[in-house]
Amino acid sequence: MVQAMAARTQPFILVLIHLVLSTAPSVESATFTFINKCSYAVWPGILSNAGTPQPSMTGFALQSGESNALPVPATWSGRMWGRTLCSQDPATGKFKCLTGDCGSGTLECSGAGAIPPATLAEFTLDGAGGLDFYDVSLVDGYNLPMLVVPQNGHGGNCTATGCAADLNNPCPAELMVSGDGGHSVACNSACNAFGDPRYCCSGAYGTPDTCKPTTYSEFFKKACPRAYSYAYDDGTSTFTCASADYTITFCPSLSTSLKTEGDQDPVAADVDGSPISAVIHSSAAHRTRSLSGVPTALAVLAAAWQLWRLH
Ligand SMILES: *[C@@H]1O[C@H](CO)[C@@H](O)[C@H](O)[C@H]1NC(C)=O
Repeated sequence: MVQAMAARTQPFILVLIHLVLSTAPSVESATFTFINKCSYAVWPGILSNAGTPQPSMTGFALQSGESNALPVPATWSGRMWGRTLCSQDPATGKFKCLTGDCGSGTLECSGAGAIPPATLAEFTLDGAGGLDFYDVSLVDGYNLPMLVVPQNGHGGNCTATGCAADLNNPCPAELMVSGDGGHSVACNSACNAFGDPRYCCSGAYGTPDTCKPTTYSEFFKKACPRAYSYAYDDGTSTFTCASADYTITFCPSLSTSLKTEGDQDPVAADVDGSPISAVIHSSAAHRTRSLSGVPTALAVLAAAWQLWRLH
């Protein structure tokens, strides 16, 4: 009787083991940890690329000094940005932001993207060659300093990227977006401001050979050498990494704006420098990629084993 039971249960356990091994990789996840080092509140927005389901959160509030972790599937792709100067309209109840607004009328962006200008962090996780591709882009303009730092990743050119500089104050007047008090709250890209094919890399300028940097794109590139400054800025602006988690820090360096007038390259120093690493390492919020399905699967296996022993 016991032997007959065992003979019947063993294939069942084999099937279970097979299930565990074949499903484990699909539950592997990456974690994005948002850190707000700005002196003001930031409302991150998250949008998945077409064909990728939206993550569990697509928008939330992050007060000054706060951080929040968002797990996404290992193959996730999409973009993230920070909304600023947000409030709920007392009359309509609609949530609205002065910069980076996604137009959803609510805290969650729920499939809506940032209305330019906005600093964007773009990700394709587990893309070509199993590598994550990521960048920070100013192609749609700039609204706040943002830094992306891979954690515990390897391979590729797995380093910090972003734009630590404050570009709202030094923004060229014709690109400047002003708030209620007349002060600069964001900086348009020349494409958004003028719609010229030369700036947008469209029409006759729709190839890397015909679309070249302009004085406007060079304003962004000079301040933020690692960020995209126009559409074909790939070579110096795309980074790769395998099996990493990422921290996304708004206003990585509060003193950056004071240094942008300096004689050496303040932004590169900020991206590599120790003040930022100190910030990153003190944020215990990040964790390594986890096979979150394995503990559950092991529990199921253990239960099956006990069931088998009882017979
Ligand atoms: C990083 O590596 C990718 C893939 O090899 C390459 O296309 C890109 O130019 C590199 N980025 C930088 C900033 O060197």
